[in-house]
Amino acid sequence: MEEMESIYGEKLSLMNDVLEDVLNKIDIVREEMKEKHFGEDPVEHCLARIKSEESMREKCIRKGIPVNVESALAEIHDAIGIRVVCAFIDDVYEIRNYIVQLSDIKVIEEKDYIKHAKPNGYRSYHMIIQHSSGLYVEIQLRTISMDTWAALEHHLYYKKNIEANAKELIVSELKRCADELASTDVSMQTIRNMIYDE
Ligand code: GTP
Ligand code: MG
Repeated sequence: MEEMESIYGEKLSLMNDVLEDVLNKIDIVREEMKEKHFGEDPVEHCLARIKSEESMREKCIRKGIPVNVESALAEIHDAIGIRVVCAFIDDVYEIRNYIVQLSDIKVIEEKDYIKHAKPNGYRSYHMIIQHSSGLYVEIQLRTISMDTWAALEHHLYYKKNIEANAKELIVSELKRCADELASTDVSMQTIRNMIYDE
């Protein structure tokens, strides 16, 4: 069998450079915020990935666009992805405010699934930015609770053959958890504000 050529081809090294550059920029934001907040790091953890060849091919096909590097980088905006996970909701918005001010980065799109949760309960703040190289990067900002929830909900996509009644219960329990976590996130933020008398 012929070996499949990498969909990103020669662009892969540029993609890695862009990922690193944006991660460095986020690190600078993180340091600035740390200084402002008495040394407290706003970021719990940060995750970065290049979309796998397989899921990029699958996405091109799903979107009905050619399966090549041009489509992958121009039409699909999450070939490069970064997830920033914070302990508190206010930190999510503060990082967002820093990102929009970064000089050689253009914000293309923002979706606030925190203020406007998806019907299933999904919460996260999504940004599509364009790097000075022209490449797009998807940044997802969320709290630890939102991240834990999204990871659990993600299992539903992969687990096939769940009986309809069981699935219905899982979906509604997930929604209930999402709302409880959201309410706890708000309470935690309020307590933190009380501690710092904000
Ligand atoms: P696509 O990239 O085609 O999915 O575009 P879109 O406009 O639907 O993007 P959206 O911003 O809604 O979602 C992008 C990414 O957010 C997904 O690839 C997931 O990583 C994450 N995401 C969005 N919705 C959900 C959800 O309901 N559950 C989980 N676990 N993750 C989600
Ligand atoms: Mg989607």
